[in-house]
Amino acid sequence: MDGGKVFSRRAIFNLVLLVALHAFRILPQLTSASRAASRPHGNTTCNTILTSGSIMKVILTGCTGFTGGEVLEQCIQHPSITSVVVLSRRQLPASVASNPKVQVVIMDDFLSYNDDTLRAIEGADACIWSLGKPGMAGAMDNATVKKVHVDYPMATARAITEQRKAAAAPNHKFRFICLTGLCVTRDQNKPLWIMQDYLRIRGQVENELLAHAKENSSFFESYIFRPAFILPKQSTWKSMFLQLAPSVRVDALGKLMVETALNGYKADTWEHSDIVEAAKKIQA
Ligand SMILES: NC(=O)c1ccc[n+]([C@@H]2O[C@H](COP(=O)([O-])OP(=O)(O)OC[C@H]3O[C@@H](n4cnc5c(N)ncnc54)[C@H](OP(=O)(O)O)[C@@H]3O)[C@@H](O)[C@H]2O)c1
Repeated sequence: MDGGKVFSRRAIFNLVLLVALHAFRILPQLTSASRAASRPHGNTTCNTILTSGSIMKVILTGCTGFTGGEVLEQCIQHPSITSVVVLSRRQLPASVASNPKVQVVIMDDFLSYNDDTLRAIEGADACIWSLGKPGMAGAMDNATVKKVHVDYPMATARAITEQRKAAAAPNHKFRFICLTGLCVTRDQNKPLWIMQDYLRIRGQVENELLAHAKENSSFFESYIFRPAFILPKQSTWKSMFLQLAPSVRVDALGKLMVETALNGYKADTWEHSDIVEAAKKIQA
């Protein structure tokens, strides 16, 4: 849950890159292409935000990290969320893990779901997926990036779906919220100026999750969040510097992700501009 990670040298490099992309008018082209991929969510019955849905059990990932840690805190505090199952490769701080709402499942392998894990997630209503390393482009080989960002979330989505199909009342909608990022591309053939393989791999999980939702539309919905920089709650000189680039505060983003898990959203994708607009309403 270390917000300081955002301010790594890689983050500063990315900021300079973003400013340069703005200057050369590359970023607007990338984001408008991304926006074209977003479509209304046909199966969503509620398109308002910031209202409380019914009582829920939520699966979370990435909770030892910056964004997932914030989402976990908000789920613990939310009165409509009664139970939180955290899938993690390592233990959470005792202060969080000991909360009566929280059950931590230590995962040796995010690709396979044993009986204990399946029992833990049984009856869940939503999953908020914040697992993943920002700035993996160039730092890891494509096979690892794909395993973490595509294979892990899809294995979870499929395990949930199989469980739903076997359940007595599978028509109750499950919502899968997935955090990707700005400039991700769903077009797997489109040449990109920068980070082509990385942005395509991140787009691949969006494609697969949305296709999965379409195939299982009676009981499964997918929502994608594509924020640019995520800022910590406390303002520092570093966060003020990062605000020069497109950015959103982690608490506002977390709130939108939790509310989408509870109530759905009018479209299957939250572009960065949608996130910023809604965040303004929260903070107003
Ligand atoms: N931070 C930003 O400004 C930003 C902006 C846009 C999009 N995003 C996206 O948001 C997501 C979360 O970012 P973040 O800044 O919150 O990251 P973070 O603080 O580094 O947290 C990453 C989380 O993912 C887990 N994780 C990473 N690799 C894993 C692996 N191989 N196996 C199991 N767990 C793994 C980490 O677990 P451990 O603690 O065990 O390592 C941690 O819980 C990423 O997909 C990132 O690309 C971030």
